[in-house]
This record gives sequence, C-alpha cells and structure tokens, in this order.
Amino acid sequence: MITNTELEYKGNLYPDQIVDFKKDSDKFYFTTQNGVILEITVIRNSTIRFRYATDHVMEPDFSYAISPDAPRGYKDLKAEETDTEYLISTAKVKVLVDKKSMRVQISDLEGNIINEDELGFHYEENYTYGGNSVKMSKITQSGESFYGMGDKATHFNLKGKRVHNWVTDQYAFGKDQDPLYKAVPFYIGLHQNKAYGLFFDNTFKTHFDFAHERRNVTSFWAEGGEMNYYFFYGPDMSRVVRSYTDLTGTPELPPLWALGYHQSKWSYFPESRVKQIASKFRKLKIPCDAIYLDIDYMDGFRCFTWDKTKFPDPKKMISELNEDGFKTVVMIDPGIKIDRDYWVYQEAIKNDYFCKRGDGPLMSGKVWPGQCNFPDYTNPEVREWWAGLYKELMSEVGAHAVWNDMNEPAVMEVPTKTAPLDTRHDFDGHPCSHRKAHNIYGMQMVRATYEGVKKYVYPKRPFVITRAGYSGTQRFASTWTGDNVATWEHLWIANVQVQRMCVSGMSFVGTDIGGFAEQPNGELFARWIQLGIFHPFCRVHSSGDHGDQEPWSFDKEVTNIVRKFIELRYQLLPYLYTSFYRYYKESIPMIKPLVYHDQEDQQTHFRTDEFIFGEQILVCPVQEPNAKGRRMYIPRGTWYDYWTNETVEGGSEKWVDADIDKIPIFIKEGAIIPKYPVQQYVGELKIEELQLDVYYKNGIENSMIYEDAQDGYDYTKGEFSLRNFKLTGKENELILQQFKDGNFITTYETFKLNLMGLPFKIKSIQLDNESIALKDVKMNGSNTIHVTKEFTTLHIIGK
Ligand code: NOJ
Repeated sequence: MITNTELEYKGNLYPDQIVDFKKDSDKFYFTTQNGVILEITVIRNSTIRFRYATDHVMEPDFSYAISPDAPRGYKDLKAEETDTEYLISTAKVKVLVDKKSMRVQISDLEGNIINEDELGFHYEENYTYGGNSVKMSKITQSGESFYGMGDKATHFNLKGKRVHNWVTDQYAFGKDQDPLYKAVPFYIGLHQNKAYGLFFDNTFKTHFDFAHERRNVTSFWAEGGEMNYYFFYGPDMSRVVRSYTDLTGTPELPPLWALGYHQSKWSYFPESRVKQIASKFRKLKIPCDAIYLDIDYMDGFRCFTWDKTKFPDPKKMISELNEDGFKTVVMIDPGIKIDRDYWVYQEAIKNDYFCKRGDGPLMSGKVWPGQCNFPDYTNPEVREWWAGLYKELMSEVGAHAVWNDMNEPAVMEVPTKTAPLDTRHDFDGHPCSHRKAHNIYGMQMVRATYEGVKKYVYPKRPFVITRAGYSGTQRFASTWTGDNVATWEHLWIANVQVQRMCVSGMSFVGTDIGGFAEQPNGELFARWIQLGIFHPFCRVHSSGDHGDQEPWSFDKEVTNIVRKFIELRYQLLPYLYTSFYRYYKESIPMIKPLVYHDQEDQQTHFRTDEFIFGEQILVCPVQEPNAKGRRMYIPRGTWYDYWTNETVEGGSEKWVDADIDKIPIFIKEGAIIPKYPVQQYVGELKIEELQLDVYYKNGIENSMIYEDAQDGYDYTKGEFSLRNFKLTGKENELILQQFKDGNFITTYETFKLNLMGLPFKIKSIQLDNESIALKDVKMNGSNTIHVTKEFTTLHIIGK
C-alpha cells in the first residue's frame, strides 16, 4: 500500500476533496479544492469518457483519433449525491466518484466492480517542458487478463507486461521488443467473464503497466498532455472492440483487388524486371493482383519523380501491367530532399510547409535521398498541398495505389531514429512540439495521402498503406507490421500481431510474408503463405538483399503449395469481402482471437495461435519446422475439418495433421461459405455461379454474403447485394432461408450448393414450397445441387 506521504515524496500530486459539482447537458464537472477538474461525458450507455485537468484549466478539446462519425453524447443525465460520493447511472453501468479523493469506481448494474481506481488520477509537474506527466492507476481484478495495444510483438495476453507507445522504425525487431511502428493506447480487460476496454487518447509517449510492477495494479501514464480516457463496457469483448472501433472509425470498403495477393520487393526495377515478374505469375498460373514499386523507381529518392533510366515510360508500363490484371502500387516517403532544383522542395519552401526546430531553423534529417526536410502534415494547409501532389502520379501516370513508408518519421544516423523533440508542429491550430505530435505524424501524412489518392482515382476507390499509425489511422489506410525477419519466431509474431491489431480497431493489416530481413527457406515461406492468405492484407515483401522471395524462388513443391493457398484465398474472396463489409459497417474485427470468440471458456484466455478468420473459419498456423501437424485448441462447438469434412468436437486440445501442404482449417458447423472460382486476378472472370459450401448442423446458424461492383461508390447508394442465410438442420431435413437486401444484381443466376455432412440421403427438395424434380435441381453426384439465386426457402428432406 502506497501512502499519500510517499506519493508526495515522489513528486506526485493528486486531487483532494471535491468542492464543486456542475452538470452541463451531456457532461458532469467535478472540481477539487486543489484545482483538479474531472469532466465525465456519457457517450453511450456503455461508453464513458473521463477527462482530468489541473489548476482549474481545461485545455481546448481536440483529438486526431476520434472519428467525425463517432457517437457524441447523451442528454438527460442525472447524478445522485450522497455524503461520500456521486453516482452516475446509465442503462449499462454505474459510475461512483468519491468526494474525498476523486477516485472512480465503475460497476455493472448487478454491482460487480468492473474497473476501479487504485490511486486514480495523479500527476507530476514537468519543469523542463511545462505541463504535467499525467498518471492513472487501477486495481487489477482477480484473474484479470489484458489484450489489445496495437502491434506489440509479445504474448497475446498482456498480463504482467509493461509496454510503451512511441512509433518507431524498428528494423528487424525481435520478440518482446517495444515500442514498434504503431501507437494504439487501447486495452481490453477481462475478469469474471466480463470485458471492458480503456482508450487513453493521449498522443505523447505513453506507458502501460499491466500488473508488471505491482501485482495488483494496472497503470498508465503519459509524459505530457491530458489524462483523457474512454471506458467501454462489454460485458462481451466483441461489444468492447466494436465500441472502441466506432469511436475511432473504420475505413470505407477497399477495391476488391486490394484483398487479392500482392507481390513486393525492395525493389523491382527496371521496367523489364517488373514485367518479367508479372508475366511469370501468369505463366505459372499463380493469382496476383498487385505489384509494388519501392523507392528505387524515384529519381534519387525524390518523391513524385521517376528515374527515367529505369522506367522510361511509367504511364505505358502501368497501363500494360493493368491490361494483364496487375495494379501498380508506388511508395511515397515523408522526407523531401533538400535540393533547390526539385519542384516539391521549392513549393514547400515557398509556402513555408516544412517543420521547424524550436529556435527557428528548418528541421532536417537524413533519409534515403540524403538530407531532407519534413512537411508538417499536422497543418491542414500542408495536407491539402500534399494531397494535390498525387494528381500527376494517379490521374496521369495511372498508379493505382500508394504506400507510405518511413512516416514515424524515420531519421537515419541519429540515436533517437526520429525528429528532434523540439520540432514544432501546427497540430491543427494547437501548436506543439514533436513530443506531442510524434505519434500522429505518420497518421496525418497518410491522411493527406488518402485524401489525394481518393480524389485522383475517383470514381474508383482508394487503396493506401501506411507503416506508422496512431488510433484512428484505420480510417485512412491499411497497414503492415514493418521490417520483420525470416525466422520461425517471426511467423509466431506475425500471427499475434495481426490478431492484436484486429482487436485494436485496425483490421486491414498484414505482415511481410516470408520475412523482410534475411531469407526464408522454402518450408518457412510455404508456412508463412498458409498464414498470410488469412490476413486481411496479403503481401509478400522482402528487403531483397538476401535473394528472391517470389512464389517460384524455392523448389517446385513450394511453388505448388503457394499456388494452392493463393488459389484458396481467391476462392474465399466473397467470404473475406463480407468480413470487410462487416468491419466497415459494424466495426467487427476481420480476425478474432479465440478469447474474443469465446471469452467464457477460460482455456482461450492465454491462447495465441488459433484464430477465427471472418466469422466461421478457424485457422491455426504451423509454426515449427519439420512438422507433420500440431497440437491446437479447438474452441467449444462442433467443427468440420476443412480438408476431410470430418467433424470434431471442440473444448479441448487436439493433435491435427498438417503436412507441409496443409494448415489446420476448421469450419463452424452450420456455416455457409461462399466461393468464387479461382481467378488469376480480381475481375478476370465473370462469375457464372456462386458456390456455397453448406456445412450441415442439427440446429440453427446464420451466415452472410455481401457483394457489390467490387470498386466504385455505387454501393453507398444501395447498389449492393446482402444475403442473410438462416440454416436450420434437423435429423431428417435441412432448411435454408434467404433474406436479401440491396439493389445490386450479381452476374450469376444460380448457386451451386455443396452439402457437407448431411446425415441423410436426399428424398425430395422443395424450392419456395414447390416440389421440384430432383433432375431439375441438377443433382450432381450425391450432394451438389444447383438452384436459382432468388430462392427464399430451400427445403431438403431426407429419406
Ligand atoms: C522500410 C520499409 O519498412 C520497407 O518495407 C521498405 O522496403 C524499405 N523501407 C525501403 O523503402
């Protein structure tokens, strides 16, 4: 137990007695005698914001993280007052504020404590920079687990860990290395089967301690700014993640090709090499939708220029690649070469768009082109200028998408790897130093990029990728996990990082498949592809200095395995696209860790390897060399082995065979999985029939299929096709009901149903209450039937 005297000794200050209480439409204000103000906003029944100020001064409220579409607040609130505390109640939680200490306790309606201040808010004056270090400590509840926090390369359950948020270019990072490229100060707590979330919206360097220093205490603090956090109540983890994601936003739908397989390397050049790679994909019949140009396409690494010796006619090359079904994705970095003859540099100098140091000179640092200046993307005028720079690249040259790298910003040959802390930023009219702007610098860069790309590819949809990011960056860009390494340990890290990002609001994520640094052997590459095809962003990328990393760079067996799995991804595109739709529309993460899937089952709380892809496919990568299979935990319920169609009962660990050409995949019983035919690229084939793999269940299961034009914005005007299927299985019958929404007319007329696991032989089939002769449904073998896509009820009756 820490006493107040000890605290004072450490330089901490803390709120004392509450002497004033005010209510103002959707907010409550509590003020202590020593000038601490606590502002509480009820955003939703289960989302409450807590904001603390000291010395009686509330700074203007501003956040880059919060989505403009986020829920705003709630009227008609009441607080009750007793001798010792204030009580705010919503339909989901009760918030108690202690009058003597301003400590907060949040409980559910049954009185179970969900989250409780230990010391609560406290702070320390910062004599060097001004402002405070702001701190919060909470009591760790018994059996509590912790999840979330973006890209941390550590065990999925954060209990016992301390982590830091300071976006960092971390080349060849290792397991447990921290911080990495993202700053997502959001965590989920889970105890007594109740989950809650906490988002500390503070862009300074932040620190989180999950019962690491003191077993019963969870704390977080920042080196400046405000104690400003959002509390989300579950009790389901899915509710928590969705509330956080609603608050910080989701992306619009990407063009479907962005969900295809992508090939990258640092770097493919010259033009003949790029074309050779592209045509090899077609020759070997390995599907691929995009090819990447890393920094070497530029003239001396100057952004928005081309090295004409390597790429004499980029417009022609991009258009020829496009005819062959390849989109071209180009890299743009933040650093602008200091070069008086370079138009981008000239424009930025003329308009005063570069960041300056505290005492006035321009901030400069070394990156690929040599000494660079750095645009201040936190200035809206600079963002607009930056967006405009994409005009020629996108509208005239025809690049399809942009990849923003090094936007932490990374600076070479300095110990801090980034901009000096005294660098000044506009921060959208709230001028500050880099201490405050660092974590959002890359986010604001990619935001400007997104605006530009969106404008110049219109009426098509933009696709943008970023390396650095803060909470909310998902509204603008997809992301990858940076410079990983071609090792088996990194395959484990890749799996954990993507799951973690998905529960941290950022689903559109992938890793450099095969590893960026060093060289994988064929086996590791094959295993990584098997995992990577289940990641929302699926791209092979490598540093290229240790050899090649194309699907054919290993032996024939590996090439065949890689093809087989990329083909599976292309078959699953309608399923994957539906999960993207649910992410965009309902804030549901595209990949769900086991604890998210079944938090009630304590077995899931410390699992790291297994995850649910979309809603109904369980995947578990093989992460060791020479494996013929692995032990894995199958969550509760009945699952079909994807490879054998045998059913297995979950709720325990099992050995699952998975030789080098397999990865354990299980389908939830009752699921209806849509599949497209294998295409070499999105849009290659007109889909003539939609395959539906139907997994019988004795009981009910719902499935969803979302489709639209795969690009463009008509889907926002009702041009989409949303099919909800309800499967009801009984001993001797199977009923499929279809509920349709949207006006989009799909190219196909029929479904091909593959019925798996039917426990009976089909005697008759009724389509919308009319019996149809079995020959009319084109029974093909025993359990494949073709029916019109328009049906509302399909009734299959057994003998
Ligand atoms: C660092 C990035 O993380 C990597 O993906 C890229 O290839 C290099 N920069 C070169 O641009």
